[in-house]
Amino acid sequence: MPSTLFILNGPNLNLLGTREPEIYGTTTLAEIEAACAGKAHEHGLAVEFRQTNHEGTLVDWLHEAHAADAKAVIINAAAYTHTSVALLDAAKAITPPVIEVHLSDPQTREDFRHVSYIGEGAVACFKGKGLPSYLDAIDAAAAL
Ligand code: DQA
Repeated sequence: MPSTLFILNGPNLNLLGTREPEIYGTTTLAEIEAACAGKAHEHGLAVEFRQTNHEGTLVDWLHEAHAADAKAVIINAAAYTHTSVALLDAAKAITPPVIEVHLSDPQTREDFRHVSYIGEGAVACFKGKGLPSYLDAIDAAAAL
């Protein structure tokens, strides 16, 4: 069994492709998933790629990654990045290392995006490059 990377995506990322393309580009989440699967397979890793609009579901999936002894969790928590102590606590509670990703660079946007709660529980953050942010995160996870 190859070890598994959980790649988790939060609210509104299901709308990528048409959502604020001037910020997020026109790449769809399905295209990101396909590229991530290809990159992970280059490293001999399996992928669980998921999206939800619900905070508690992300918490449950972090616990599931722990129970499954995942190699790492790559998470774009989207807006919950900036609000969720629950996701931070979950990231700290689990054994698999957590890597934060973003398509945009929240540090260059509105002030309320400058705080990342989950970042406090992450071993690395890749941001601002669109789809390549995810691919860099997979390379980093494979090297852990
Ligand atoms: C995002 C950045 C967040 O600030 C925002 O709420 C998102 C997407 C990104 O990938 O750039 O939904 O996480």
